[in-house]
Amino acid sequence: MAQHQETNAIRIQTDRTAQMEHSTPLFLTSSFTYNSAEDMAAAFSDDTLDVNIYSRFSNPTVDEFIHKICVLEGAEDGIATGTGMAAVFATFMTFLGQGDHIISAAAVFGSTHTILTKYLPKWGISFDYFDMNQPDSIEALITPHTKMLYVETPSNPGLDIIDIAFVAAICRKHNVLFVVDNCFATPAVQQPLALGADLVLHSATKFIDGQGRVLGGVVAGKKELIHPMYLFVRNTGPSMSPFNAWVLTKSLETLFIRMDRHADSAMKLAKALEHHPALHNVKYPFLPAHPQYEVAKRQMKNGGGIVTFDLKGGIESGRKFLNGLKMLSMTNNLGDSRTIASHPASTTHSKLSAEERTAVGITPGLIRVSVGLEHFDDILADILQALAQC
Ligand SMILES: Cc1ncc(COP(=O)(O)O)c(C=O)c1O
Repeated sequence: MAQHQETNAIRIQTDRTAQMEHSTPLFLTSSFTYNSAEDMAAAFSDDTLDVNIYSRFSNPTVDEFIHKICVLEGAEDGIATGTGMAAVFATFMTFLGQGDHIISAAAVFGSTHTILTKYLPKWGISFDYFDMNQPDSIEALITPHTKMLYVETPSNPGLDIIDIAFVAAICRKHNVLFVVDNCFATPAVQQPLALGADLVLHSATKFIDGQGRVLGGVVAGKKELIHPMYLFVRNTGPSMSPFNAWVLTKSLETLFIRMDRHADSAMKLAKALEHHPALHNVKYPFLPAHPQYEVAKRQMKNGGGIVTFDLKGGIESGRKFLNGLKMLSMTNNLGDSRTIASHPASTTHSKLSAEERTAVGITPGLIRVSVGLEHFDDILADILQALAQC
């Protein structure tokens, strides 16, 4: 392993095959073969053996992706899944059972909210939400049945931030598993395990892919926590495709340089819009006006690639803003090389009631911008001309 993570993200690679390829090979195969009946019998007799059997269980290209993520996150082991939601669901299903209780930040991604509120209760697993801006309220929610605490930091789409080390200390005291969704930051910006989290997970679909091509998820942590997750994924089937793993492991080669550029442009955008007359406010983790600016500075290397702002004209202005854009893409994904604008109140979160939206920080005029890698002046010019039409 190299001394610098930027180098590991580029140089960690599957052992070169007899073909002497330079770029990492893609093992696009469903299953693997054996030299003898005895070898095959041995492979099936012990599920701790390090041998490839079937790509639902393991695959060398997927293993390369997992290994890189583990090095970047400072984890002993990991497991990859077909989507970020499969990573979230596999984490819940591996560690929670009937009668258990989970505490989650209220500001979590919409589908995670759906699992917590619609599916877990169906299987006798209860939940409580807490406000990320009030971390002192967490301890009172812990019961003898509490098994897991779950946060996203920064959160989607509200960009709320929580002190990971503070929450980790509470979880350690009460023997509660602490899980952090690190999708918005990526390991290039924030390493939750080093701050005391037990498991870190990602939607690799976002900044890890970085070009809006494939879906994927990954969970990393201690070996003893990953092994039961491996058995869950191996048996229930939300495994990552080797093709997607190949795309994602190639993407990791540029993760650090991309995150630096995303963050640099996002910071410039946040500053340029901060006092714009059409906006109530602009939110970005490294803007001093962010309510958790000090925490962000402590635990993040930069502010990441997402900026949000609140249009004074509410829902109608949100629609006008999107319709006024000439270059920015109108899509719900994020973490792409192309800058993306979305208006959660009229799209991704339109099915929530106004009260539910307010509770997770989604105001009628909230616009989320995933700042891409284009020239900054072009990004700013498009946003300014669209704002002029609101
Ligand atoms: C913070 C966060 N977690 C999880 C997910 C789910 O990931 P996927 O879409 O890859 O299933 C998303 C998707 O937007 C997300 O933003």
